[in-house]
Amino acid sequence: MKCLITGAAGFIGFHVAQRLLSLGHEVVGIDNLNDYYDVNLKLARLAILEKQPQFHFIKMDLADREGISRLFAESHFQRVIHLAAQAGVRYSIENPHVYAEANLIGHLNILEGCRHSQVEHLLYASSSSVYGLNRKLPFSTDDSVDHPVSLYAATKKANELMSHTYSHLFNLPTTGLRFFTVYGPWGRPDMALLKFTKAIIAGQSIDVYNHGDMRRDFTYIDDIVESIVRLQAVIPEADPSWTVETGSPATSSAPYKVYNIGNSQPVRLMEYIEAIEKALDKTATKNLLPMQPGDVMETSADTSALYSVINFRPETSVVDGVQRFVDWYKHFYH
Ligand SMILES: NC(=O)c1ccc[n+]([C@@H]2O[C@H](COP(=O)([O-])OP(=O)(O)OC[C@H]3O[C@@H](n4cnc5c(N)ncnc54)[C@H](O)[C@@H]3O)[C@@H](O)[C@H]2O)c1
Repeated sequence: MKCLITGAAGFIGFHVAQRLLSLGHEVVGIDNLNDYYDVNLKLARLAILEKQPQFHFIKMDLADREGISRLFAESHFQRVIHLAAQAGVRYSIENPHVYAEANLIGHLNILEGCRHSQVEHLLYASSSSVYGLNRKLPFSTDDSVDHPVSLYAATKKANELMSHTYSHLFNLPTTGLRFFTVYGPWGRPDMALLKFTKAIIAGQSIDVYNHGDMRRDFTYIDDIVESIVRLQAVIPEADPSWTVETGSPATSSAPYKVYNIGNSQPVRLMEYIEAIEKALDKTATKNLLPMQPGDVMETSADTSALYSVINFRPETSVVDGVQRFVDWYKHFYH
């Protein structure tokens, strides 16, 4: 198959591209290589992908309407795995406009490209942050998600709504992927695992929000990749019997689906830190701080719908996953 992966130089995009290439698919990757975090890490990921003859990289911004339109017109992609976005909850409080460009205009350009080139299946990144003020745990795709608490989350929810309209109007099969805190080798420098590891090695204190009283459904990267690779083959079909009154919000009379991809085993933040301390054989100095605006206390994924369609659900433990991250970190950063 010929696949487009947006955000191919990013954490998740890089891993998905590697896996699709190893399965013999042709992958076109796009990314604007922005400096939200260390560009050298993005370039190092790309250097690995570019060793594969079946990989082709194009530096392009999602908001480049003509460029994206041309790319779709010239290449007949069977699958589009749209992972490029401005990520980060806290950053969206200070820099809201970047989110509108990358996550709203960018998503629209991808939808338009898929619509005009008859892409067979669009899969796109959503986020557990769409659950916002929801308190019922675990979070289920059957629940309504109308109360996001950050602009980042609102753009991800908007992506689901925009996708639904394209599934409905143009019969474009779309699958939304609500990722729950993804971690692992080649992970993002703006996320807790890399920040904590770096600080603990340097003997500096780590900032622990809400005094450590938070739980996260940390999901290991290989489990995310496995889920995406299986889901790309499950093309959503319209369900004519579906109604708003009786059906789940995660499905539709249009070829539209949304899944949670999480570990279903929320871990206390302090337990996550203990796993890092164990992997590094070093104790962290903790700087206990109040809750940050836009953050949620707990995330936990109900993955029953995911399991029923792909016969797989993430289950790597944080002890194993964090150890693999630390091994990569020590090797990569010497
Ligand atoms: N990592 C997580 O825990 C997590 C959780 C939930 C959702 N997500 C979502 O998954 C997707 C991938 O996340 P990630 O962790 O790999 O992030 P990442 O930042 O490592 O990857 C995103 C990539 O997209 C690129 N990009 C950003 N804006 C762009 C634009 N306007 N045009 C072209 N390229 C652009 C960036 O340069 C980056 O390489 C994102 O949509 C993110 O919102 C991630």
